[in-house]
This record gives sequence, structure tokens and C-alpha cells, in this order.
Amino acid sequence: MPGHRSGHSWPESIRTRLASLDTTELAATDDLHQPTGPALVAMDLAARCFGAGRTWFLTNGSTGGILALLAGLVGRGRKLILPRTCHLAVSHALALLDIQPVWLEFSRPVSPDPLGFLPVVSARMVADAIALHPDSVAVFLTSPDYYGRCADLAAISHVAHQAGMLLLVDEAHGAHFVAAPGLLPQTALSSGADACVQSAHKTLPALTQGGYLHVAVSLLSRDPRTAGRMTAALRIFQTSSPSFAIAASLDFARDYLEQHGQVQIENTLESIQRLATTLWPDYLVSPAAVTPVRGEMRDPLRIVIRQREPLAAPATQLAHQLGLQGIDIELSDLTRLVLIPSLDQPGHDFERLQQVLSAWLESPHPDQPIRGLDLLQLEQRWLELLVQPPERVLAPGSVLLEPVDTAAIPLAHSAGSVMAQSLAPYPPGIPLLLPGERMDRQRLDLLLALRDNGINLSGVDHDSIRVVV
Ligand SMILES: Cc1ncc(COP(=O)(O)O)c(C=O)c1O
Repeated sequence: MPGHRSGHSWPESIRTRLASLDTTELAATDDLHQPTGPALVAMDLAARCFGAGRTWFLTNGSTGGILALLAGLVGRGRKLILPRTCHLAVSHALALLDIQPVWLEFSRPVSPDPLGFLPVVSARMVADAIALHPDSVAVFLTSPDYYGRCADLAAISHVAHQAGMLLLVDEAHGAHFVAAPGLLPQTALSSGADACVQSAHKTLPALTQGGYLHVAVSLLSRDPRTAGRMTAALRIFQTSSPSFAIAASLDFARDYLEQHGQVQIENTLESIQRLATTLWPDYLVSPAAVTPVRGEMRDPLRIVIRQREPLAAPATQLAHQLGLQGIDIELSDLTRLVLIPSLDQPGHDFERLQQVLSAWLESPHPDQPIRGLDLLQLEQRWLELLVQPPERVLAPGSVLLEPVDTAAIPLAHSAGSVMAQSLAPYPPGIPLLLPGERMDRQRLDLLLALRDNGINLSGVDHDSIRVVV
């Protein structure tokens, strides 16, 4: 995991004691579901560090946290305003809780940013959705996104609160923001969000599945039932045997952030700046400073690399090459690489990355030519279809959770069929179709072209998909 670099980011005392930290509820260890001792102290320290009124440790990742957040603060059958570009966990929450989605409308034409494929939600879009659906309970957003782009949460929380709605944020990729104010974007909580979830394992030295769920001071004082609701929801969506090893790593990550975060972030930003300068103009690398652009911010620690144009090959090929050289990346879409540095990533790793990227441009790589469409056109079409909901025939919950008849059919012959499961081109793993939605010709053509260009299709098994019959 990028957060801890195979344990290299941890001191010996943690690296060698993981097995002994894997305990159950004992007098000395406390109960993570009902903390009264050391676990409570650790969670309170985390709440203080992250500026929350109350923090819960997540041991089933942001996935469990998102399910609990929506169960605890939105509830069954209610209306929720959100973009189509949310993580799969959100669509599962919609299905389980029978939440009615109000999809945010992106103003057309949407076009991908060279350094971030996904569009950013604006306060204007949220205000428009609120005007049409004033009976919604909350607004749910992902910020930052996989590319480090952040929405203007301060403006959005203002709009949501004026309408009496909550702002809930999937901040899975932003657990580190609190450590270096000014150098990194503002946190969701300090921008007025009512609650958020963070995956600690993505950007902090914590074990996989470690995360935090934070609720703002203001929400706890406005509605004292909130803490009880969150605790109850977490009991449903997290295991009854939460991992103390993960919890201990969350406590360590918080301490690390407080002790060393600022300095490590400054060092890493310097390395990213050097990388960007050395690779220019062969590659465009995301800026190593917070860059406010039209109300949007970018996490400078998220390294996004775009090949120079004309693009020689899909970025998936370049990602493969990096993998062969032992450089693990977070994701590659058609034209960009996304890398998450650890907070203590050594400088020589950046030099090696630069060498491999420079060598790639010199080497011939026509072995897997771009198929079908020009990559930029393909990306444009992908984005347009991603933000536009297809026809919904059945509620996702009735497809996933009721005994409907389904069958596997070849993807190539699926136009017109109703999906029995989500279909998400990966990366970035955002569903193009949810259960109960109809596959149309445009989406099918797009999926086939993406597959031909190295994008994995999650939900397609041996060229077949499961549909409702
Ligand atoms: C934006 C976003 N939200 C939520 C999740 C789920 O996080 P976790 O892996 O911690 O369950 C992910 C995982 O990739 C993500 O990218």
C-alpha cells in the first residue's frame, strides 16, 4: 500500500509486532464498538487531530464507512443528491438502503482536464439540484477525487446548509490534508462538511482497510442523536471482530501525521516539483502546489502524469512497463498515470520513476496499437456517458436483493438488456451502469473500445455480463 510502503514507513516496534497487536476485546485493549478505555482515548486523539467532534476508527475501509454514513445520516428510502461519479460502495449503499438518488447534472459539454479525468462538482450544480429536490436529506460528494481534484466544499456546504441539508463527503483520498494547511487543500470538515470518511491506508502509514469516520462538532451539537446513530450503523456494516492491528495502525498514523506530517509533506512536494521539471515537456506532471482554479483545488501530493501529445499508446501500456520495473502506480486511465507517494517516499524513488518514464519515450512501442477511436475522443465519449444516467428500469435494490432471474450473456450482444450488477471500467472504478439500468448501444460501443485499449471492465467475466431476464 502506498500509505506504508510494505511496512517501511513504520518503526521496527510496529513492523515486527503486528501479530501481537492482533488481539480481541480484552480489558487492556478495550472494545472498538463500545470504547471506554484505550480505544476511546485513541479515537478522541484522532478527533482532535482531524478537527472532528467525534471520530470512529474504521476497520472495513471507507467502503464500510460510506455504508454506515449513509445509513446513519441519510436513512432508508430518503432522497440524496450526489454525482454519478461516486465509488461503487455508494451504489451498494443506495441499493441496500433504497435511497433515492438525485443525480447532479454536469453542465455540457463536459470535457476531461489533462490532469484529471473526472469533472468536479460546483456549488451551482448543487444549488440547482436542491431547487428541484428540496425534500432531499443530504448532499454527498467525493472530494478529492482519484486525481486529487477537490470541489469547493466551503461554497457547497453553505448552499446545502441554507437548504437545511447535510453535506457528507467521501474524503477517502484526503486523510493527509489536515497535516499541512496552506500546502494542501482544506479538509472537508474545516470547509463545513457535516461528516466524512477517509481511507487512512491510501495516504497515511496505516494498514489496508484502516479508515476514519469523522462527524463535525456542529452536527453533534445540532443533533445529539447523531453519535448514537453512527455507532449503531457501524455495528451493522463493520465486522463484530474489528481488527486491533488495523486500529493500532490508525492510532500510529494519526501520531505520525502530527509529529512528522508537515516536514514529510514539504520534502515530498520538493521531490514532485523536481520530477515535474525534469520530465517537462515530454510529460505534463500535476503541479506540486495547491492550485486554486475556478473555485477548485488540487492536492499537490497526488502525482498525475500525462504523456505528451500526440499520444503514442494508451497509458495502460506505460503503466505495465512501470510495473515491470517494480514501480507500482495507483491507476492508469487511457491517457494519464496516477501515483500516490508515501509521506516518506525516498528521493531516489522519484529519480527512478523519471528514468523509466524518459526511457519509455525513446523506446518503440507500437506492439499494441491504439484501437478504434483516437484516445482523446474515446476519453471524451467516456466522460459524457459517465456523468449521464442511462435509462433506469428497476431499482438497484430490487435487482441485487430480491430473487430476480438473471443470466450471463455475451457483452457484445447485451444492447437493450437490463443490468443485474454494476459495470465499472477500471480504472477508475466508477460504475457506468448500475444494477437495474439498461445497456444501450452507445455504452456498449464505448465499453468495447475501452476494453480494446487495455481498460479492465469490472462486472465483465469472460466477455459475459449478468443481466435480468
Ligand atoms: C473515492 C473512493 N471512495 C471510497 C473507496 C473505498 O475505500 P476503501 O478501499 O478504504 O474501502 C475508494 C477506494 O478506492 C475510493 O477511491
